[in-house]
Formats: sequence, C-alpha cells, structure tokens
Amino acid sequence: MSDPTDDHLPEPEPPLWEQMAARNAELPGGERLQKVLAAVGWGSRRVCEDLIAAGRVTVNGEVAVLGRRVDPDRDRIEVDGAPVGVRPGLVHYLLNKPTGVVTTARDTHHRPIVTDLVPSEPRVFPVGRLDIDTEGLILLTNDGDLANRIAHPRHGIEKEYLAEVAGGAVSAGAVRTLREGVELDDGVTSPARVSQPSPGLLRITIHEGRNRQVRRMCDAVGHPVQRLVRTRIGPISDRSLTPGSWRELTSDERKALSEAVGRAAQQYDPST
Ligand code: URA
Repeated sequence: MSDPTDDHLPEPEPPLWEQMAARNAELPGGERLQKVLAAVGWGSRRVCEDLIAAGRVTVNGEVAVLGRRVDPDRDRIEVDGAPVGVRPGLVHYLLNKPTGVVTTARDTHHRPIVTDLVPSEPRVFPVGRLDIDTEGLILLTNDGDLANRIAHPRHGIEKEYLAEVAGGAVSAGAVRTLREGVELDDGVTSPARVSQPSPGLLRITIHEGRNRQVRRMCDAVGHPVQRLVRTRIGPISDRSLTPGSWRELTSDERKALSEAVGRAAQQYDPST
C-alpha cells in the first residue's frame, strides 16, 4: 500500500545529463548529433549515443551532450579530436592511377588527367600528387577540408611506396641512409621506414610530400627508381583495385582517415 505522505515529497532531480539533454533537444532546428554521426558511419545510433555520453564528441570545440542538435553544414564536429565529414554531397574516391596520367584537375598539354578516370559530377580534385610516371593510390574528393588536412605537412600522414630500383640489391648502409635521412637539394629527408622485401625492391614509408621525393631519395643512394607504385595512404590500401579503376571510400575508411589525420597532427614536430 502506498504511503499518503509520499505525495508531499519533492520530485527527485533528474540527473544532470538528462536536464542538459532536455534543454538541448529544445533547441530549434538542426539534426540530432547521434543521427548525423550514424549517417557518416560511426555506427548505429545507439553506438553514437554512447560516444556522445562518453564525452568523445565535440561540436565547435565543446564537448557535446546527448540530445545535442547540430547543423551538419555549419557545425564542426569531431570525435576524439578528429573531424568527421558530415556535409552531404561529399565524395571520396580512391583511384589506382596508371602511368601516363597527370595528377591535375586541368592540363594545358591535353594529356590524360586523373579526373578523367572518375565521375565528372560532382567535380573533384586530387589530394596531393603522383608523378606522371608513378602508379598507385591517390584520393580524389570535393571535401576541401579533409584534402587540406591530408596534404598539409602538419597533418602529413604516412604514404607507402614500392620502388623497383636499378643497380640490384641495395646495401644495408644505403638502406640505413634512406631510413635516417638523405641529403637532398631542399634539405635532409625526415626519418623513413625502409625495407627490402627482395633484392632491388624497396618498401619506403614517408610522411613528407616533397616533389619526386622517393625518386630523389633513391637517386641519392645510387639506385635510380625504375618503377614506383604508391601502395598505401595512411590507413587506406587496396591490392584488388586494378590500374585505372576507382571506388568510393567506405565509411570505415573515411573514419580511419579522419582519425589518422588527427593523430598525425598531434605527433607533428616541425623540426623534423
Ligand atoms: N615520390 C616520388 O618520387 N614520386 C611520386 O609520385 C610520389 C612520391
């Protein structure tokens, strides 16, 4: 039986986050943050709610609370400090560039260009560049924010190359030089990861993006490059993508790329 004096007890206060959620939910317009996060691949709405509740999501630099509404076109949304691409209409293509194709959105010499190999609408542009005689993975997008973050040395994410070089097996000393830093005319290169899976074949991972860098590094140790293929951009690789073909990044890949850019920015040391 219920105690009649209960009627006079004050209602218990709802927990703080519920109060804030209720207040946020009343904000006019916008979409619920968990819905926006789910739409760009951060998992189910439930998973996204957990991310928000754990304080891992910020909106315009402030930790978001459950029930937060956002404008995907205007608000800057980050998870663990990495921006999430939320604007509708953004596309992110991964292309396996063949040799003979120029990395530009327009070429005055009428040579084949990378944008010829992907859909023409919406207009996209290449992120960074590969030489005309270099093959392999390149991103094309209309997401200027992500492109800038990837291309900027401050965010310089790792790029991995396979280089077939002239002159046979590369000596352990030359491999060490490539790893530790090579004197080029625009300065010494930052430390690189270098291995030699078979004699004369080098796997080189760098995070700088200087002009013709891998070719110049190999030239400097007396092993000019004969064939150069980019096999990975940060977390993105795809051995089954044939030269000349492209595909859209998956939402997991977009997410991983955003995270990698965020991590690289944290580790950035301008003196190296
Ligand atoms: N390094 C090069 O030398 N060429 C490329 O296209 C990319 C990296």
